[in-house]
Amino acid sequence: MKEKAIMNHQGTILWLTGLSGAGKTTIANGVAQELQKRGCLVEVLDGDLIRTHLSQGLGFSKKDRDTNVRRIGFVANLLSRNGVVAIVAAISPYREIRDELRQTTTNFVEVYIQAPLAVCESRDVKGLYAKAKAGQIKHFTGISDPYEEPLNPEVICFTDRFTIEECVYQVVSYLDYQGHIRHNC
Ligand code: ADX
Repeated sequence: MKEKAIMNHQGTILWLTGLSGAGKTTIANGVAQELQKRGCLVEVLDGDLIRTHLSQGLGFSKKDRDTNVRRIGFVANLLSRNGVVAIVAAISPYREIRDELRQTTTNFVEVYIQAPLAVCESRDVKGLYAKAKAGQIKHFTGISDPYEEPLNPEVICFTDRFTIEECVYQVVSYLDYQGHIRHNC
């Protein structure tokens, strides 16, 4: 019997960074759906979910966030080297760690999910901004903790000016144009 050829293409790490409430999870899921339709292998690594499993017990100090982000990067790298498009949705507020991941992985695509702080605050989907402003949550990104914007992201999605569908299309088009999708699907 003829052996089946095993194709092991390099995948992609699609890293969505941005403030809480900027739209990372929604866009990550939208992009995942779109790529799955095209036959790609996709996995979403969402900060909130990772913190209930892989990073359970970690807090929001710089040290803990760095640990969390490095763990997510480690898993994303395992997936992407096996041909998966690993889509990460995590605040990942520190530029240095994001850049470290860019340097130590292959096909790292940084997507800045951008919305002004005031817009994220007004959305306050989880009610966390109100708590942070009332001093009930410490080290809250944008309120009492820093967020360092990417300087050279591959894509910027302005979620206060474009719809989720438009942002998803923008990301998928970038991946398509750069050959990430062709290689994976
Ligand atoms: S990261 O900074 O380590 O990348 P991550 O994306 O995993 O953060 O988790 C952020 C989520 O944790 C937020 O979406 C929010 O629901 C929750 N959260 C709880 N406390 C904080 C805080 N102090 N700062 C930011 N997010 C918080």
